[in-house]
Amino acid sequence: MEFEDVLERRRSVRDFDGKPLDEQAIRKVIEQAGRAPSWANAQPWRVYVATGDTLARIRSRHVDLVRRGVRGASDFENMHRGDWGAQAQGNMNGWSRDLFYRYLNGDPEGSFALSNARLFNASAVAYLTVERPFTEWSVLDLGAFEQTLALAAANQGIDTMIAYELVKYPKVVREEMGIPRDEELAIGVAMGRATGDRLNGYRSPRMKVDEYLTIRR
Ligand SMILES: Cc1cc2nc3c(=O)[nH]c(=O)nc-3n(C[C@H](O)[C@H](O)[C@H](O)COP(=O)(O)O)c2cc1C
Repeated sequence: MEFEDVLERRRSVRDFDGKPLDEQAIRKVIEQAGRAPSWANAQPWRVYVATGDTLARIRSRHVDLVRRGVRGASDFENMHRGDWGAQAQGNMNGWSRDLFYRYLNGDPEGSFALSNARLFNASAVAYLTVERPFTEWSVLDLGAFEQTLALAAANQGIDTMIAYELVKYPKVVREEMGIPRDEELAIGVAMGRATGDRLNGYRSPRMKVDEYLTIRR
């Protein structure tokens, strides 16, 4: 696929068809993600992929915790929206307004929350972990891995969803995936094929390049 097409295809998909993905295709995507750059080539990432019965168990435990109103507590610290910098806060608020009020008309069916709670009905989830101790540089490296993974998947016609929701109950993921205690669960990337659900038709806005770019000659 042309790079521009790959870039265009990669977007958050919040409803997958749940049909199994070819394991070789998943392996290839994870291998290609490993081409990401990292600090002194540290490659601090580890990847655990859940599919089939394992993912079904994780999903069922996740749904149960959401139903019981258990608060998420990811390994990575959460910052209250109001504490973020002004640029990020403005964009987050703009995104919420655009998605919930303009696109979903207030989301009366709660389709966004439901899709998250059922882990987007993904066919597979890749959990990215980082060995302790690590630095902010390692987190940057994981971000590069995450995006390379998403683009590699898009290139193979596999849709993705990078989500906090996937790692908000780390105990469940740790138990089901056998993740050792000295690894921190960073993020999950759901994979599969998008359905025609309305949620998947949403395209998130972006700042204009001149809003975030400075060039000095
Ligand atoms: C680290 C990270 C965590 C995210 N967590 C969630 C999440 O829990 N639920 C969700 O619906 N979207 C989540 N998103 C998706 C973002 O809302 C999305 O990437 C952003 O709005 C841009 O849209 P796009 O991915 O379609 O380009 C997350 C994205 C990132 C990068």
